[in-house]
Amino acid sequence: MTAPAALIGSWVEEIDTPALLLDLNIMEQNIVRMATAFRGLTAKLRPHAKTHKTPIIAHKHLAAGAIGITCAKLGEAEIMVEGGIRDILLANQIVGTRKISRLVSLARHADLIVAVDDGANVQDLSQAAQAAGVSLRVLVEVDVGMRRCGVVPGEPALSLAQQVEKAPGLKFAGLMGYEGHLVFVPSLEERVHRVHTDLQLLIDTVSFLESRGLPVGIVSAGGTGTALITGRLPRVTEIQAGSYVFMDGRYKTIEGVDCECALTLLTTVVSRPRPDRVIIDAGMKTLTHEFGLPRFKGRDDLELLGLSEEHGTVKLNDPSVALTPGSTLEIVPSHGDTTLNIHDFYYGIRRGRVEAIWPIAARGKSR
Ligand SMILES: Cc1ncc(COP(=O)(O)O)c(C=O)c1O
Repeated sequence: MTAPAALIGSWVEEIDTPALLLDLNIMEQNIVRMATAFRGLTAKLRPHAKTHKTPIIAHKHLAAGAIGITCAKLGEAEIMVEGGIRDILLANQIVGTRKISRLVSLARHADLIVAVDDGANVQDLSQAAQAAGVSLRVLVEVDVGMRRCGVVPGEPALSLAQQVEKAPGLKFAGLMGYEGHLVFVPSLEERVHRVHTDLQLLIDTVSFLESRGLPVGIVSAGGTGTALITGRLPRVTEIQAGSYVFMDGRYKTIEGVDCECALTLLTTVVSRPRPDRVIIDAGMKTLTHEFGLPRFKGRDDLELLGLSEEHGTVKLNDPSVALTPGSTLEIVPSHGDTTLNIHDFYYGIRRGRVEAIWPIAARGKSR
C-alpha cells in the first residue's frame, strides 16, 4: 500500500484511522539516551531492527554511534541491505538450502554475521559460502537459560566453535548468549542479580574457549530490559537491544528502563452504544495483544475491555466523559514489534503535524 505523501505537513487530526503514529522527538530522545549511556562502555550497541523494520531508523542508530544492526530474519536483513546498511548480525539460525542460498547471495553485498548451534548447519553454511566465494562471520549461540536456541555452555560450545574455525568459507567470530528469559523481570535488583548469574555461563565459556587457543572476538547478548546490565559485564562486546527505540506498554511495566513510548495507534470512536461504553475502529487486525490489552495514552479513565477483528470495546469509568462517534484516541501498543508488523507505514509526528511517512519496509518479512 502506498503511503499518502500528500498528508505531509498536515495536522494529526487529518489522518484517517486506524493509523500508527511515531512521535519523532521521543524516538530521537530514546536513541540518544541509550547511545549516551553506552558512551565509555566497552560493549557497543548493535540495535535490533525487528523493532522498527525500517532502514531510516537503522541509519539513525548508526549515526548515534551503533556499530551495526541486528536482524532476526533473513528477509529483514535483505531489506536493511537494500536500504544501505552493511554490518548486520543475524541473531538467528539460518537453516535449509533456500535460506542459505539467500544468505550467501546477500553476503556479496554486506558484512554478515550469523548464529549457529548445530554442526550440520555449519557444514551447510561452509559449503554454500565456498561455492559462492564469500566468507561468513559466525557466532556460536550459547543457551544461557532462555531454553530457546543455543548449545550448552562449556564443552559443546567449544567443539562447535572448533568446527566453525576449521570450516572453509566461515570465520569463527565469537559467541552469542541472549538472556530473553530475563528482559522482563520487573524488579531491577532481581534482574541485575539474575543477569550476573546467568551471563556468567557465557563469560566462562569465553574464557574456556580462549584457554583452548580459540580467540573470542565478539560476545553478543542483551535486550532492552538488560542492555545496561549486560552491557557492563566484562567480556561482553555487543548489545542487541531493540525495543527501547519505541518502547511499548509491556516494557513500561518494568523498572529501570529510562525510555518513553514513541509509538501509538490513532483510533476513532465509531459508536457509543451505552453511556459507559465506546467502540473504536481498532481491533485485532491493527493491534496485537499477546502481552495483554493495550492502554490509552494519557487516559486512565478509559479501559480497553476487548478486541474483535475490527473493533475495540472500551469502558468509560466516568460516563459523563464527552466521547462521541468521530472522537479520536491514542493507544500505546502493549507489544510494539508485532503491532507494527501488521501496518504498512508510520506517520512520523512532530509538534502535532505529520513530518514524514515511512514505509515499514521489512514488515511481514518473516522468512
Ligand atoms: C536474539 C534477540 N536479541 C535481542 C532481542 C531484543 O530484545 P528487546 O526487544 O528486549 O530489545 C531479541 C528480542 O526478541 C532477541 O530475540
